[in-house]
Amino acid sequence: MSRRTVWSGRFKGKLSEEALSFTSSLELDARLAWYDVVGSIAHAEMLGKQGIISEGEMTVIVEGLKEILREIDEESLELSGDFEDVHSGIEFLLTERIGEAGKKLHTARSRNDQTVTDLRMFLRDAVLDLTTLLIDLEDAIIRISRSNLGTVLPGFTHLQHAQPVTLAHHLLAHLSRLSRDVERFADAYERINVCPLGSAALAGTTYDIDRKFTAKLLGFSSYSVNAMDGVSDRDFAAEFVFNCSLTMIHLSSICEELVIWSTPEFGFVELDDAYSTGSSIMPQKKNPDIAELVRGRASGVIGNLVSVLALGKGLPMSYNRDLQEDKSPVFGALDTTAACLRIIIPVVRTLRFDAERMRARAEEGYMNATDLADYLVTKGVPFREAHEIVGGVVRHAIGSGRRIEEVPLPKLREFSDRFEGDIYDVLSLESSVGRRRSDGGTSPESVKRQIDVLSGKVRAQRDRVKKEERRLQSVWRKLL
Ligand code: ARG
Repeated sequence: MSRRTVWSGRFKGKLSEEALSFTSSLELDARLAWYDVVGSIAHAEMLGKQGIISEGEMTVIVEGLKEILREIDEESLELSGDFEDVHSGIEFLLTERIGEAGKKLHTARSRNDQTVTDLRMFLRDAVLDLTTLLIDLEDAIIRISRSNLGTVLPGFTHLQHAQPVTLAHHLLAHLSRLSRDVERFADAYERINVCPLGSAALAGTTYDIDRKFTAKLLGFSSYSVNAMDGVSDRDFAAEFVFNCSLTMIHLSSICEELVIWSTPEFGFVELDDAYSTGSSIMPQKKNPDIAELVRGRASGVIGNLVSVLALGKGLPMSYNRDLQEDKSPVFGALDTTAACLRIIIPVVRTLRFDAERMRARAEEGYMNATDLADYLVTKGVPFREAHEIVGGVVRHAIGSGRRIEEVPLPKLREFSDRFEGDIYDVLSLESSVGRRRSDGGTSPESVKRQIDVLSGKVRAQRDRVKKEERRLQSVWRKLL
Protein backbone atom coordinates (compact mmCIF):
# COMPACT_ATOMS: atom_id res chain seq x y z
CA MET A 1 0.00 0.00 0.00
CA SER A 2 1.41 3.42 -0.89
CA ARG A 3 1.52 5.78 2.05
CA ARG A 4 0.14 9.05 0.85
CA THR A 5 1.21 11.97 2.98
CA VAL A 6 1.17 15.64 2.04
CA TRP A 7 4.69 16.37 3.25
CA SER A 8 7.07 13.78 1.75
CA GLY A 9 9.49 16.25 0.07
CA ARG A 10 11.70 16.81 3.07
CA PHE A 11 12.12 13.12 3.74
CA LYS A 12 14.47 10.63 2.18
CA GLY A 13 12.82 7.64 3.78
CA LYS A 14 9.17 6.68 3.84
CA LEU A 15 6.85 6.85 6.81
CA SER A 16 6.56 3.36 8.24
CA GLU A 17 3.25 1.65 8.03
CA GLU A 18 2.91 1.43 11.79
CA ALA A 19 3.72 5.13 12.18
CA LEU A 20 1.04 6.03 9.67
CA SER A 21 -1.45 3.78 11.34
CA PHE A 22 -0.57 5.28 14.74
CA THR A 23 -0.81 8.89 13.61
CA SER A 24 -3.72 8.66 11.20
CA SER A 25 -7.06 10.15 12.25
CA LEU A 26 -8.93 9.07 9.13
CA GLU A 27 -11.06 6.52 10.90
CA LEU A 28 -12.51 9.25 13.10
CA ASP A 29 -12.41 12.36 10.96
CA ALA A 30 -13.88 10.70 7.87
CA ARG A 31 -17.20 11.92 9.21
CA LEU A 32 -16.00 15.48 8.60
CA ALA A 33 -15.67 14.76 4.85
CA TRP A 34 -18.71 16.78 3.77
CA TYR A 35 -17.60 19.81 5.76
CA ASP A 36 -14.04 19.47 4.50
CA VAL A 37 -15.14 19.60 0.87
CA VAL A 38 -17.48 22.50 1.50
CA GLY A 39 -14.72 24.40 3.30
CA SER A 40 -12.40 23.75 0.36
CA ILE A 41 -14.97 25.03 -2.12
CA ALA A 42 -15.24 28.30 -0.22
CA HIS A 43 -11.47 28.54 0.08
CA ALA A 44 -11.01 27.94 -3.67
CA GLU A 45 -13.61 30.58 -4.51
CA MET A 46 -11.83 33.06 -2.31
CA LEU A 47 -8.47 32.24 -3.92
CA GLY A 48 -10.07 32.77 -7.33
CA LYS A 49 -11.76 36.02 -6.40
CA GLN A 50 -8.47 37.37 -5.04
CA GLY A 51 -6.56 36.32 -8.16
CA ILE A 52 -4.33 33.99 -6.12
CA ILE A 53 -5.33 31.22 -8.50
CA SER A 54 -6.76 31.77 -11.95
CA GLU A 55 -10.48 31.73 -12.60
CA GLY A 56 -9.99 28.62 -14.75
CA GLU A 57 -8.18 26.80 -11.96
CA MET A 58 -10.84 27.82 -9.51
CA THR A 59 -13.58 26.45 -11.74
CA VAL A 60 -11.82 23.13 -12.21
CA ILE A 61 -11.18 22.79 -8.47
CA VAL A 62 -14.75 23.67 -7.51
CA GLU A 63 -16.22 21.31 -10.11
CA GLY A 64 -13.96 18.50 -8.87
CA LEU A 65 -14.92 19.17 -5.27
CA LYS A 66 -18.63 19.23 -6.12
CA GLU A 67 -18.26 15.86 -7.78
CA ILE A 68 -16.69 14.50 -4.57
CA LEU A 69 -19.49 16.11 -2.57
CA ARG A 70 -22.09 14.30 -4.68
CA GLU A 71 -20.34 11.02 -3.94
CA ILE A 72 -20.31 11.80 -0.22
CA ASP A 73 -24.05 12.54 -0.40
CA GLU A 74 -24.63 9.24 -2.22
CA GLU A 75 -22.32 7.49 0.24
CA SER A 76 -20.24 6.16 -2.65
CA LEU A 77 -16.98 7.98 -1.87
CA GLU A 78 -14.09 5.62 -1.15
CA LEU A 79 -11.43 7.05 1.16
CA SER A 80 -9.09 4.12 1.74
CA GLY A 81 -7.00 3.74 4.87
CA ASP A 82 -3.60 4.99 3.74
CA PHE A 83 -4.18 8.71 4.27
CA GLU A 84 -3.19 10.66 7.35
CA ASP A 85 -6.60 12.20 7.65
CA VAL A 86 -9.72 13.13 5.75
CA HIS A 87 -8.26 16.50 4.78
CA SER A 88 -5.20 15.16 2.97
CA GLY A 89 -7.27 12.27 1.62
CA ILE A 90 -9.73 14.52 -0.14
CA GLU A 91 -6.97 16.74 -1.52
CA PHE A 92 -5.21 13.67 -2.94
CA LEU A 93 -8.40 12.41 -4.47
CA LEU A 94 -9.12 15.76 -6.04
CA THR A 95 -5.66 16.06 -7.55
CA GLU A 96 -5.85 12.50 -8.82
CA ARG A 97 -9.01 13.47 -10.66
CA ILE A 98 -8.41 17.02 -11.89
CA GLY A 99 -4.61 17.10 -12.11
CA GLU A 100 -2.37 20.17 -11.61
CA ALA A 101 -5.07 22.58 -10.42
CA GLY A 102 -5.73 20.36 -7.41
CA LYS A 103 -2.22 21.04 -6.17
CA LYS A 104 -3.08 24.72 -5.79
CA LEU A 105 -6.00 24.25 -3.44
CA HIS A 106 -3.84 24.26 -0.33
CA THR A 107 -2.41 27.71 -1.11
CA ALA A 108 -2.78 30.07 1.85
CA ARG A 109 -4.12 27.50 4.25
CA SER A 110 -2.87 24.78 6.55
CA ARG A 111 -4.46 21.65 7.87
CA ASN A 112 -4.28 23.42 11.21
CA ASP A 113 -6.95 25.94 10.25
CA GLN A 114 -8.69 23.48 7.93
CA THR A 115 -9.40 20.81 10.58
CA VAL A 116 -10.81 23.21 13.08
CA THR A 117 -12.95 24.97 10.46
CA ASP A 118 -14.45 21.59 9.58
CA LEU A 119 -15.07 20.74 13.22
CA ARG A 120 -16.82 24.04 13.82
CA MET A 121 -19.15 23.56 10.84
CA PHE A 122 -19.82 20.00 11.98
CA LEU A 123 -20.66 21.19 15.49
CA ARG A 124 -23.07 23.83 14.23
CA ASP A 125 -25.19 21.04 12.76
CA ALA A 126 -24.65 18.88 15.83
CA VAL A 127 -25.95 21.63 18.11
CA LEU A 128 -29.01 22.17 15.93
CA ASP A 129 -29.75 18.42 15.90
CA LEU A 130 -29.28 18.03 19.64
CA THR A 131 -31.39 21.04 20.49
CA THR A 132 -34.17 19.83 18.20
CA LEU A 133 -34.22 16.57 20.17
CA LEU A 134 -34.16 18.45 23.46
CA ILE A 135 -37.09 20.57 22.30
CA ASP A 136 -39.04 17.45 21.31
CA LEU A 137 -38.48 16.12 24.82
CA GLU A 138 -39.60 19.45 26.27
CA ASP A 139 -42.79 19.26 24.24
CA ALA A 140 -43.47 15.73 25.47
CA ILE A 141 -43.11 16.90 29.08
CA ILE A 142 -45.36 19.91 28.53
CA ARG A 143 -48.05 17.66 27.11
CA ILE A 144 -48.03 15.38 30.16
CA SER A 145 -47.94 18.37 32.49
CA ARG A 146 -51.01 19.97 30.91
CA SER A 147 -53.10 16.91 31.71
CA ASN A 148 -51.75 16.48 35.24
CA LEU A 149 -52.36 19.85 36.85
CA GLY A 150 -54.38 18.25 39.63
CA THR A 151 -52.54 14.93 40.01
CA VAL A 152 -51.06 14.91 43.50
CA LEU A 153 -48.01 13.00 44.64
CA PRO A 154 -45.50 13.30 47.44
CA GLY A 155 -42.81 15.92 46.88
CA PHE A 156 -39.45 14.79 48.19
CA THR A 157 -36.41 16.35 49.75
CA HIS A 158 -33.64 13.98 50.86
CA LEU A 159 -35.90 11.39 49.20
CA GLN A 160 -38.16 11.73 52.27
CA HIS A 161 -41.77 12.86 52.08
CA ALA A 162 -41.69 16.66 52.18
CA GLN A 163 -44.81 18.41 50.90
CA PRO A 164 -47.44 17.27 48.43
CA VAL A 165 -46.97 18.56 44.90
CA THR A 166 -48.71 18.12 41.58
CA LEU A 167 -47.21 15.87 38.93
CA ALA A 168 -47.14 18.82 36.55
CA HIS A 169 -45.13 20.82 39.06
CA HIS A 170 -42.62 18.00 39.41
CA LEU A 171 -42.26 17.48 35.66
CA LEU A 172 -41.86 21.20 35.00
CA ALA A 173 -38.84 21.18 37.31
CA HIS A 174 -37.21 18.74 34.90
CA LEU A 175 -38.39 20.83 31.97
CA SER A 176 -36.77 23.95 33.45
CA ARG A 177 -33.42 22.18 33.45
CA LEU A 178 -33.80 21.02 29.86
CA SER A 179 -34.83 24.50 28.81
CA ARG A 180 -31.57 25.87 30.21
CA ASP A 181 -29.71 23.13 28.33
CA VAL A 182 -31.21 24.36 25.08
CA GLU A 183 -30.23 27.92 25.90
CA ARG A 184 -26.74 26.86 26.89
CA PHE A 185 -26.29 25.15 23.52
CA ALA A 186 -27.60 28.25 21.74
CA ASP A 187 -25.10 30.36 23.63
CA ALA A 188 -22.22 28.01 22.79
CA TYR A 189 -23.32 28.12 19.14
CA GLU A 190 -22.29 31.78 19.01
CA ARG A 191 -18.73 30.85 19.90
CA ILE A 192 -18.69 27.82 17.61
CA ASN A 193 -19.83 29.93 14.68
CA VAL A 194 -16.50 31.72 14.20
CA CYS A 195 -14.34 30.94 11.17
CA PRO A 196 -10.65 30.14 11.73
CA LEU A 197 -9.94 29.53 8.03
CA GLY A 198 -7.17 31.82 6.80
CA SER A 199 -5.23 31.52 10.04
CA ALA A 200 -3.05 29.16 7.99
CA ALA A 201 -0.48 27.33 10.14
CA LEU A 202 -0.32 29.91 12.95
CA ALA A 203 1.02 33.18 11.58
CA GLY A 204 -1.43 34.08 8.88
CA THR A 205 -0.30 34.17 5.28
CA THR A 206 1.61 36.32 2.82
CA TYR A 207 -1.19 36.03 0.24
CA ASP A 208 -3.80 38.72 -0.07
CA ILE A 209 -6.67 36.59 1.21
CA ASP A 210 -10.18 37.77 2.08
CA ARG A 211 -11.14 36.06 5.31
CA LYS A 212 -14.43 37.87 5.61
CA PHE A 213 -15.47 36.52 2.21
CA THR A 214 -14.62 32.88 3.10
CA ALA A 215 -16.34 33.15 6.46
CA LYS A 216 -19.46 34.54 4.79
CA LEU A 217 -19.53 31.82 2.12
CA LEU A 218 -19.49 29.22 4.92
CA GLY A 219 -22.20 30.97 6.94
CA PHE A 220 -19.96 31.93 9.85
CA SER A 221 -21.00 35.04 11.72
CA SER A 222 -17.39 36.22 12.09
CA TYR A 223 -13.79 35.05 11.79
CA SER A 224 -11.11 34.53 14.43
CA VAL A 225 -9.15 37.64 15.38
CA ASN A 226 -5.78 35.99 16.03
CA ALA A 227 -4.32 33.28 13.83
CA MET A 228 -2.52 31.43 16.63
CA ASP A 229 -5.72 31.33 18.64
CA GLY A 230 -7.59 30.40 15.46
CA VAL A 231 -5.69 27.12 15.06
CA SER A 232 -5.32 26.22 18.75
CA ASP A 233 -8.68 27.21 20.26
CA ARG A 234 -10.73 24.20 21.35
CA ASP A 235 -12.75 26.09 23.97
CA PHE A 236 -15.82 25.68 21.78
CA ALA A 237 -15.31 21.90 21.76
CA ALA A 238 -14.95 21.78 25.54
CA GLU A 239 -18.08 23.92 25.91
CA PHE A 240 -19.99 21.65 23.58
CA VAL A 241 -19.00 18.55 25.53
CA PHE A 242 -19.78 20.30 28.82
CA ASN A 243 -23.24 21.10 27.52
CA CYS A 244 -23.68 17.46 26.52
CA SER A 245 -22.52 16.39 29.99
CA LEU A 246 -24.98 18.62 31.79
CA THR A 247 -27.79 17.47 29.49
CA MET A 248 -26.84 13.87 30.28
CA ILE A 249 -26.82 14.61 34.01
CA HIS A 250 -30.34 16.02 33.64
CA LEU A 251 -31.48 13.00 31.64
CA SER A 252 -29.94 10.66 34.20
CA SER A 253 -31.85 12.43 36.95
CA ILE A 254 -35.10 11.84 35.04
CA CYS A 255 -34.07 8.23 34.51
CA GLU A 256 -33.18 7.71 38.15
CA GLU A 257 -36.73 8.72 39.05
CA LEU A 258 -38.17 6.42 36.40
CA VAL A 259 -36.19 3.57 37.95
CA ILE A 260 -37.37 4.34 41.48
CA TRP A 261 -40.92 5.30 40.55
CA SER A 262 -41.45 2.08 38.61
CA THR A 263 -40.56 -0.16 41.57
CA PRO A 264 -43.47 -1.93 43.29
CA GLU A 265 -42.57 0.05 46.42
CA PHE A 266 -43.35 3.32 44.65
CA GLY A 267 -45.53 2.18 41.77
CA PHE A 268 -46.01 5.73 40.52
CA VAL A 269 -45.31 4.97 36.90
CA GLU A 270 -45.23 2.10 34.46
CA LEU A 271 -42.97 2.01 31.43
CA ASP A 272 -44.47 0.85 28.18
CA ASP A 273 -43.65 -2.73 27.21
CA ALA A 274 -41.94 -1.41 24.09
CA TYR A 275 -39.35 0.26 26.29
CA SER A 276 -38.96 -2.34 29.04
CA THR A 277 -36.89 -5.48 29.31
CA GLY A 278 -37.23 -8.84 31.03
CA SER A 279 -34.96 -11.16 32.96
CA SER A 280 -33.32 -14.33 31.66
CA ILE A 281 -34.09 -16.17 34.89
CA MET A 282 -36.95 -14.40 36.68
CA PRO A 283 -40.06 -14.64 34.52
CA GLN A 284 -41.99 -12.00 36.45
CA LYS A 285 -39.50 -9.20 35.86
CA LYS A 286 -40.12 -5.98 34.01
CA ASN A 287 -36.94 -3.95 34.10
CA PRO A 288 -36.23 -0.30 33.28
CA ASP A 289 -32.96 -1.07 31.44
CA ILE A 290 -33.21 1.91 29.09
CA ALA A 291 -33.43 4.34 31.99
CA GLU A 292 -30.53 2.61 33.68
CA LEU A 293 -28.42 2.73 30.52
CA VAL A 294 -29.05 6.42 30.00
CA ARG A 295 -28.05 6.96 33.62
CA GLY A 296 -24.97 4.82 33.04
CA ARG A 297 -23.98 6.46 29.78
CA ALA A 298 -23.92 9.86 31.42
CA SER A 299 -20.67 8.72 33.00
CA GLY A 300 -19.09 8.20 29.58
CA VAL A 301 -20.00 11.73 28.49
CA ILE A 302 -18.61 13.18 31.71
CA GLY A 303 -15.47 11.18 30.86
CA ASN A 304 -15.47 12.81 27.40
CA LEU A 305 -15.55 16.20 29.08
CA VAL A 306 -12.57 15.34 31.26
CA SER A 307 -10.74 14.18 28.11
CA VAL A 308 -11.30 17.44 26.22
CA LEU A 309 -10.37 19.55 29.22
CA ALA A 310 -7.24 17.54 29.96
CA LEU A 311 -6.22 17.75 26.31
CA GLY A 312 -5.83 21.51 26.53
CA LYS A 313 -4.06 21.57 29.85
CA GLY A 314 -0.47 22.75 29.60
CA LEU A 315 -0.33 22.79 25.79
CA PRO A 316 2.00 25.45 24.46
CA MET A 317 0.83 27.69 21.64
CA SER A 318 -0.32 26.97 19.03
CA TYR A 319 -1.26 23.88 17.02
CA ASN A 320 -0.01 20.67 18.59
CA ARG A 321 -0.82 17.22 17.28
CA ASP A 322 -2.47 16.47 20.62
CA LEU A 323 -5.39 18.51 19.33
CA GLN A 324 -6.21 15.77 16.84
CA GLU A 325 -7.46 13.85 19.88
CA ASP A 326 -10.37 16.26 20.30
CA LYS A 327 -12.48 14.27 17.87
CA SER A 328 -13.00 11.13 19.87
CA PRO A 329 -14.50 12.83 22.97
CA VAL A 330 -16.47 15.35 20.89
CA PHE A 331 -18.00 12.71 18.65
CA GLY A 332 -18.47 10.39 21.61
CA ALA A 333 -20.34 13.02 23.61
CA LEU A 334 -22.49 13.94 20.63
CA ASP A 335 -23.37 10.37 19.68
CA THR A 336 -24.18 9.29 23.21
CA THR A 337 -26.25 12.36 24.03
CA ALA A 338 -28.18 12.14 20.76
CA ALA A 339 -28.84 8.42 21.19
CA CYS A 340 -30.04 8.93 24.77
CA LEU A 341 -32.34 11.79 23.79
CA ARG A 342 -33.73 9.82 20.86
CA ILE A 343 -34.72 6.89 23.07
CA ILE A 344 -35.88 8.88 26.09
CA ILE A 345 -38.43 10.87 24.06
CA PRO A 346 -40.68 7.87 23.27
CA VAL A 347 -40.04 6.44 26.75
CA VAL A 348 -41.46 9.63 28.27
CA ARG A 349 -44.30 9.90 25.75
CA THR A 350 -45.55 6.41 26.62
CA LEU A 351 -45.28 6.60 30.42
CA ARG A 352 -48.39 5.59 32.34
CA PHE A 353 -48.73 7.32 35.69
CA ASP A 354 -50.79 5.78 38.49
CA ALA A 355 -52.59 8.81 39.90
CA GLU A 356 -54.41 6.84 42.62
CA ARG A 357 -51.24 5.27 43.86
CA MET A 358 -49.42 8.61 43.95
CA ARG A 359 -52.32 10.18 45.83
CA ALA A 360 -52.40 7.36 48.37
CA ARG A 361 -48.69 7.78 49.05
CA ALA A 362 -49.20 11.53 49.36
CA GLU A 363 -51.68 10.96 52.19
CA GLU A 364 -48.84 9.42 54.19
CA GLY A 365 -45.78 10.94 55.75
CA TYR A 366 -47.33 13.91 57.60
CA MET A 367 -46.74 16.13 54.59
CA ASN A 368 -49.39 18.58 55.79
CA ALA A 369 -47.32 19.45 58.85
CA THR A 370 -46.14 22.68 57.22
CA ASP A 371 -49.78 23.58 56.53
CA LEU A 372 -50.55 23.06 60.21
CA ALA A 373 -47.68 25.40 61.15
CA ASP A 374 -48.76 27.96 58.54
CA TYR A 375 -52.26 27.85 60.06
CA LEU A 376 -50.87 28.81 63.46
CA VAL A 377 -48.94 31.63 61.82
CA THR A 378 -52.19 33.02 60.43
CA LYS A 379 -53.45 32.95 64.03
CA GLY A 380 -50.55 35.11 65.16
CA VAL A 381 -48.03 32.49 66.31
CA PRO A 382 -44.44 33.22 65.17
CA PHE A 383 -43.36 30.62 62.61
CA ARG A 384 -40.46 29.24 64.68
CA GLU A 385 -42.83 28.65 67.60
CA ALA A 386 -45.47 27.13 65.32
CA HIS A 387 -42.81 24.75 63.98
CA GLU A 388 -42.07 23.49 67.51
CA ILE A 389 -45.76 23.07 68.34
CA VAL A 390 -46.47 21.11 65.16
CA GLY A 391 -43.39 18.95 65.73
CA GLY A 392 -45.07 17.89 68.97
CA VAL A 393 -48.35 17.20 67.17
CA VAL A 394 -46.54 15.02 64.62
CA ARG A 395 -44.75 13.12 67.38
CA HIS A 396 -48.11 12.50 69.06
CA ALA A 397 -49.72 11.44 65.76
CA ILE A 398 -46.91 8.99 64.98
CA GLY A 399 -47.18 7.56 68.51
CA SER A 400 -50.93 7.07 68.23
CA GLY A 401 -50.77 5.70 64.67
CA ARG A 402 -52.90 8.49 63.23
CA ARG A 403 -52.62 11.05 60.49
CA ILE A 404 -52.55 14.69 61.53
CA GLU A 405 -56.08 15.23 60.26
CA GLU A 406 -57.25 12.34 62.45
CA VAL A 407 -56.08 14.00 65.67
CA PRO A 408 -59.23 15.40 67.35
CA LEU A 409 -59.50 19.12 68.08
CA PRO A 410 -59.36 18.83 71.90
CA LYS A 411 -56.07 16.97 71.54
CA LEU A 412 -54.74 19.58 69.13
CA ARG A 413 -55.72 22.31 71.58
CA GLU A 414 -53.50 20.69 74.20
CA PHE A 415 -50.61 21.74 71.96
CA SER A 416 -51.94 25.21 71.20
CA ASP A 417 -55.18 26.99 72.07
CA ARG A 418 -55.00 28.75 68.70
CA PHE A 419 -56.26 25.60 66.96
CA GLU A 420 -59.94 25.90 66.02
CA GLY A 421 -62.45 23.91 64.02
CA ASP A 422 -61.33 25.42 60.71
CA ILE A 423 -57.97 23.72 61.05
CA TYR A 424 -59.26 20.66 59.19
CA ASP A 425 -59.94 22.76 56.09
CA VAL A 426 -56.24 23.34 55.48
CA LEU A 427 -55.15 19.77 56.00
CA SER A 428 -56.52 18.10 52.86
CA LEU A 429 -54.19 17.40 49.95
CA GLU A 430 -56.23 19.69 47.71
CA SER A 431 -55.90 22.52 50.16
CA SER A 432 -52.21 21.91 50.78
CA VAL A 433 -51.45 21.99 47.07
CA GLY A 434 -54.09 24.51 46.03
CA ARG A 435 -53.02 27.19 48.50
CA ARG A 436 -49.44 27.27 47.26
CA ARG A 437 -50.29 29.94 44.74
CA SER A 438 -47.01 31.84 44.85
CA ASP A 439 -45.19 32.22 41.53
CA GLY A 440 -43.37 28.96 40.93
CA GLY A 441 -45.62 27.17 43.42
CA THR A 442 -47.36 23.84 43.00
CA SER A 443 -51.01 24.98 42.93
CA PRO A 444 -52.75 24.24 39.63
CA GLU A 445 -53.07 27.95 38.87
CA SER A 446 -49.36 28.61 39.57
CA VAL A 447 -48.42 25.60 37.49
CA LYS A 448 -50.58 26.87 34.65
CA ARG A 449 -48.56 30.08 34.73
CA GLN A 450 -45.35 28.02 34.74
CA ILE A 451 -46.55 26.15 31.67
CA ASP A 452 -47.30 29.45 29.93
CA VAL A 453 -43.80 30.75 30.59
CA LEU A 454 -41.99 27.54 29.75
CA SER A 455 -44.02 26.62 26.68
CA GLY A 456 -43.44 30.16 25.39
CA LYS A 457 -39.72 29.60 25.80
CA VAL A 458 -39.88 26.23 24.06
CA ARG A 459 -41.77 27.75 21.15
CA ALA A 460 -39.18 30.51 20.82
CA GLN A 461 -36.39 27.93 21.02
CA ARG A 462 -37.92 25.88 18.23
CA ASP A 463 -38.39 28.97 16.06
CA ARG A 464 -34.77 29.95 16.65
CA VAL A 465 -33.44 26.51 15.67
CA LYS A 466 -35.66 26.33 12.57
CA LYS A 467 -34.60 29.81 11.52
CA GLU A 468 -30.92 28.94 11.87
CA GLU A 469 -31.43 25.70 9.94
CA ARG A 470 -33.08 27.67 7.14
CA ARG A 471 -30.25 30.19 7.19
CA LEU A 472 -27.64 27.43 6.82
CA GLN A 473 -29.65 25.78 4.05
CA SER A 474 -29.64 29.03 2.12
CA VAL A 475 -25.89 29.40 2.75
CA TRP A 476 -25.34 25.95 1.18
CA ARG A 477 -27.77 26.64 -1.66
CA LYS A 478 -25.75 29.71 -2.57
CA LEU A 479 -22.35 28.05 -2.27
CA LEU A 480 -23.06 24.64 -3.76
N1 ARG B 1 -5.52 15.20 11.47
C1 ARG B 1 -4.91 16.35 12.07
C2 ARG B 1 -5.87 16.93 13.13
O1 ARG B 1 -6.98 16.51 13.22
C3 ARG B 1 -4.57 17.29 11.03
C4 ARG B 1 -3.54 18.28 11.38
C5 ARG B 1 -2.20 17.85 11.11
N2 ARG B 1 -1.39 18.97 11.06
C6 ARG B 1 -0.09 18.91 11.24
N3 ARG B 1 0.52 20.01 11.19
N4 ARG B 1 0.51 17.80 11.47
O2 ARG B 1 -5.53 17.79 13.93
